[in-house]
Amino acid sequence: MTYAAGVDVGSTQTKAVVINEDREIVARALIDTGANVVRAAENAFKTAIEGQNILEEEVEWVIGTGYGRYRVTFGNDQVTEISCHGRGASHIFPGTRTVVDMGGQDTKAIRVAESGEIDDFCMNDKCAAGTGRFLGAAASALEIPLPELGGTALTSEKGVRISTTCTVFAESEVLAWLGKGKRVQDILWGVHESIAKRTMGLLRRVGINDEITFTGGVSKNVAMIKALEDAIGHKLNVSDECHYMGALGAALFAMDHIMSSRNPIGEEVS
Ligand SMILES: Nc1ncnc2c1ncn2[C@@H]1O[C@H](COP(=O)(O)OP(=O)(O)OP(=O)(O)O)[C@@H](O)[C@H]1O
Ligand SMILES: [Mg+2]
Repeated sequence: MTYAAGVDVGSTQTKAVVINEDREIVARALIDTGANVVRAAENAFKTAIEGQNILEEEVEWVIGTGYGRYRVTFGNDQVTEISCHGRGASHIFPGTRTVVDMGGQDTKAIRVAESGEIDDFCMNDKCAAGTGRFLGAAASALEIPLPELGGTALTSEKGVRISTTCTVFAESEVLAWLGKGKRVQDILWGVHESIAKRTMGLLRRVGINDEITFTGGVSKNVAMIKALEDAIGHKLNVSDECHYMGALGAALFAMDHIMSSRNPIGEEVS
């Protein structure tokens, strides 16, 4: 069998996806990136193929993406995460015209052409406000495990207006609201609303087009989906693949390479 892989080494989590020649996902893994970026890339790839009956040598081409893409030392090439999220999103949701990738450190709005190519993009500046890290800071201040963050926020009846736009100050503002007697779920919903508001600024810059696909780890958060949908005014495309979208896009580019290096009868071009 011939496989292609994509490894998305993000600032927070590393994702690996392996696809077959029919471009179906046959293996995947997700781990925390941690301090050793090279090892994270290797571990994610090995964890993905382990137990899936896939040999390392059957994975013919590997593309690295994400902030640590040059640390995928066993990879064959690198592609930017903008291109990979666009490509992955267009594969799973072919009508995608805009992608919102909300990761641990960056939020990006990407405009995708009908061909799947990237028309334009913009991202938050250096600051992590409006990203997973901002949510993580609020979650730890409120002592709520990350996977429960969204569900808790959705039980709010009236969000608290969060004024800080800085992750460093998010924790102290959250604690200040707690001190004033505000309910945890209302504070949390307020945090989600403030992130949605910032994200709208990015979306407006690339143009809010019909079909929007939400990618990155924060797409696992049901309250963030709701807050964005409320702000945009219509539904977003979201699926289980969304956290893996960058890695999937990289794997698709890797499969393109394998296919284009073969002659029409399927043999390798020497
Ligand atoms: N189950 C979950 N529920 C809620 N949030 C989650 C969940 N899993 C991950 N996240 C969020 O997703 C973030 C990580 O997303 P992702 O893997 O896309 O980031 P990254 O690619 O490492 O970062 P970046 O693209 O900014 O470099 C975490 O910071 C966390 O906030
Ligand atoms: Mg990322």
